Amino acid sequence: MCGIVGVTADPDQIPTVTPMLIQGLKRLEYRGYDSAGFAIIECGSTELKIFKDKGKIDEVVSKYGVSKFCAVSGIAHTRWATHGEPNRDNAHPHTDCKQKIAVVHNGIIKNFAELREWLESNGHVFKSETDTEVVAHLLEHFVSKGLSMLDSLRRALSMIEGAYALAIVYREEPSRIYFARNVSPLLIGVGLGFNMVSSDIPSMLQYTRKVIVLEDGEYGYIEPYKVYIEKEGRLVDWRRRVVTIMWSLEDAEKGGYPHYMLKEIMEQPRALYETYTGLRSSAEISDAAELIASSDKIFITGAGTSFHAALVFAYYLARFAKRAVMPFIASEYITYSGLAERDSVLIVVSQSGETIDSLQALRAFKRNGSKIIAVSNVIGSTIPRESNIAVYTRAGPEIGVAATKTFLTQVLALTALALRTANLEGSLNDSEYAEYFDRLANASKVAAQAIQSASKTIERLAVKLKESKSMYILGRGLGVPLAYEGALKIKEVSYIHAEAYPAGESKHGPIALIEPGFPVIFLGTPPVGELHEKIQGNVMEMKARGAATILLAVKGYEGVKGVDVLINVGEADEILAPYALMPPLQLLAYRLATALGRDPDKPRNLAKTVTVE
Ligand code: F6R
Repeated sequence: MCGIVGVTADPDQIPTVTPMLIQGLKRLEYRGYDSAGFAIIECGSTELKIFKDKGKIDEVVSKYGVSKFCAVSGIAHTRWATHGEPNRDNAHPHTDCKQKIAVVHNGIIKNFAELREWLESNGHVFKSETDTEVVAHLLEHFVSKGLSMLDSLRRALSMIEGAYALAIVYREEPSRIYFARNVSPLLIGVGLGFNMVSSDIPSMLQYTRKVIVLEDGEYGYIEPYKVYIEKEGRLVDWRRRVVTIMWSLEDAEKGGYPHYMLKEIMEQPRALYETYTGLRSSAEISDAAELIASSDKIFITGAGTSFHAALVFAYYLARFAKRAVMPFIASEYITYSGLAERDSVLIVVSQSGETIDSLQALRAFKRNGSKIIAVSNVIGSTIPRESNIAVYTRAGPEIGVAATKTFLTQVLALTALALRTANLEGSLNDSEYAEYFDRLANASKVAAQAIQSASKTIERLAVKLKESKSMYILGRGLGVPLAYEGALKIKEVSYIHAEAYPAGESKHGPIALIEPGFPVIFLGTPPVGELHEKIQGNVMEMKARGAATILLAVKGYEGVKGVDVLINVGEADEILAPYALMPPLQLLAYRLATALGRDPDKPRNLAKTVTVE
């Protein structure tokens, strides 16, 4: 839930690392933003300076004038509270008693209460309620016994249980940054005359494209010209693990849009094109489909948006492969993992590849012998690394907290997977499969057309709907998971209550809420022939009770009566409908948020990557 950065540089090459720390940290703000902090070793002295407070990074930077300080090395942190309320004391970095050691941390130290008690009984004085502070005092404890900092780190790590990505500065070794990783993500950026550590790639791109993805259990230090990694006391040969990241810096910035969310909605055509092209030219889909086809039981899981993509997969697998799949919400894994066995497969959908609920589901299924397929957007993240097969979407970095482009690229990858499984199961022959798969090449065009044709109407609709306290989104078939995802987006960024239901279910209870003017958005999806009449019936039921009815539909629903606003998103068949319907729903959520003066990139109470259960 937090983001960490650390930089150390040769002052002859880079006079001060402060701007790198600030910029690098700002690109991690999506990971959490209730407080921020910096620990720097000042140029020309070995003074350790700490600036930290509640608030967003810019607020903390300007409050303490952080940019004015010259630093040879430093660490920084953006926080999303897990232990202790957001305030100055609980903001990272945390220090030892003598203010010589400063630590930033992402994750949770499970046994911090015992460690704290032990340290306090040894005379250490704590200044915060956080789990992190124990790390600073543990290091101090071992250093004071005469151990080197590296040895102290080894000893401290052997005592810590839980998840962590740590970056540490020590006043006595001004050009070194120590680090450690277990469960929480951490990368090293290898630069010219500097090296850095960070929780994620966007914070490195402006400075270096050479990255090492650290593995669980690795720790060590960086200096301006040295990277030192160890695991279980043995030196790690990292040189062959350096990967070159091709994402442009612009990919990680707003690209001229007022918000990342809007930029990311608008770049869906490109993300879809790249995902389709990537999948077509790799063996991932076929390998994964073979595993699915040969499995007795098929499960799929994910959290939030990724779970909705999982539901789309269940729809296509039923329609095309005639196979049943059991979708479950990742945090409910305890119930379902008992059904896993050697002949089962679990598909874990996670754009970040780090969501703890999804990771726990993966591990529980694995323990019971199940095979695992990951669908992720982040190469080298934990979920794909712990899976038998990884299928990657190619959406590029998603900075907006609300998932948009990663959802549709997940849908594309999962559709390809369902089609290939249908082919291996024999329900689609080779030429049918090739024809269906090729249709996915048009996802990009369909999304672009929908964005173009619906944008203006959606903007006007948002103005009308912004005063609503609540609304329904109803669909049938493929429209159901898309409705769930649309409602989630509206809730997340506009804070308007939006609830999705299968349209046929609405009369079994939800219709009780309908009173004059209550907005009900219907999704009209293919197959139009089968669904048109049923949707018409549901529209009339709502209209009869005074609802404000909106129909967002593919071509073919024009004749539906009782509709106040019809938004035609263009022609799209069963394979392509998600790309036509989803961008207008995302745009509606975005426009509602901005019409209400909310910041859609930083919705309250939410973090991009949820690494606590
Ligand atoms: C919604 C959203 C979240 C994530 C969920 C899973 O806009 O972003 O619901 O979808 O936290 O995240 P990943 O896909 O990274 O596992």
